Amino acid sequence: MSIVVTGAGGHLGRLVVENLLARGVPAGRIVAGTRDVGALSSLAERGVDVRRLDFDDPDSLAAAFTGAEKALIVSGTDFGRRVEQHVGAARAARDAGASLVAYTSAPYADTTDLLLAEDHRATEAGIRALDVPFTFLRNGWYFENYTQQLPVYLQVGAVVGSAGEGRVSGAARSDYAEAAAAVLSSDGHEGAVYELGGDTSFTLSELAEQITKHTGQPVGYRDVTQPELEAVLTGAGLPGPVAHVLADTDRAIAAGRLLIDTGDLSRLTGRPTTSLSDAVAVAAASAPGAAGVSAR
Ligand SMILES: NC(=O)c1ccc[n+]([C@@H]2O[C@H](COP(=O)([O-])OP(=O)(O)OC[C@H]3O[C@@H](n4cnc5c(N)ncnc54)[C@H](OP(=O)(O)O)[C@@H]3O)[C@@H](O)[C@H]2O)c1
Repeated sequence: MSIVVTGAGGHLGRLVVENLLARGVPAGRIVAGTRDVGALSSLAERGVDVRRLDFDDPDSLAAAFTGAEKALIVSGTDFGRRVEQHVGAARAARDAGASLVAYTSAPYADTTDLLLAEDHRATEAGIRALDVPFTFLRNGWYFENYTQQLPVYLQVGAVVGSAGEGRVSGAARSDYAEAAAAVLSSDGHEGAVYELGGDTSFTLSELAEQITKHTGQPVGYRDVTQPELEAVLTGAGLPGPVAHVLADTDRAIAAGRLLIDTGDLSRLTGRPTTSLSDAVAVAAASAPGAAGVSAR
């Protein structure tokens, strides 16, 4: 019986597979589901069972979930179509006999007004209706949403947002992946809804301070209105609807919607979550144009 991870070619899915291996799950028991099997040849060489899995191809779902004991559905990127894709994958896992379907969701998905959570709320409802044991991994905000913007922050000399002094309980993508691997490789998670976030929270002003500290370059926080932020994002080339949803996330941060104080993430991994300071330090060490000051 195997553990199937969808989106294994994506950042999070790949980290989940690596974490399962690190936890001692035999490679042959792990199915890495991906649309691009060739891209995961290095995992196949290590004995992982790499199978084609496309939410839009029912035959691939049936084949990928054959023999599944547990499945992790990593939320996809097809906005507007994700709910049917996720629920279809969960249904295929159930039909294959999986005894647990885990899904990567969003903070307080059933009650939040965060626009990004709408697909997750509908997906969770769809999975509940399937009558299969489930675990919802409600992942909070990734540090990487910010650290991958480091070159832009340095160029502009500012983090631009509309989150005010709202706090966000961010964590590293690898923290969330480790929590997912912990759930998939241990028992007792049926029906659990985990609200996952960093042990400590930060404001975007504090993010800017960390960037200044670790790059040696002055970066401030410039708070703008939500429409102004949308304009900045579309000006940077993002499609209007994406800019709208991202700017809404800052509104939600200002309202405390991404503040998560459950401790679920560190409890599942058995260690403190990655600190913002460490995440920024790592990003600064490799960002073009950053001095990479090592003090923390
Ligand atoms: N909490 C946060 O801050 C945050 C931030 C960004 C994204 N997210 C959500 O978390 C998910 C995982 O994050 P990530 O960083 O790993 O994103 P990512 O690197 O963009 O990976 C997303 C993966 O979704 C899979 N996917 C997309 N369409 C699919 C389809 N039709 N059928 C099967 N799989 C499909 C793909 O896997 P393959 O390439 O292997 O086919 C893709 O690589 C994202 O997709 C998004 O829903 C959360």
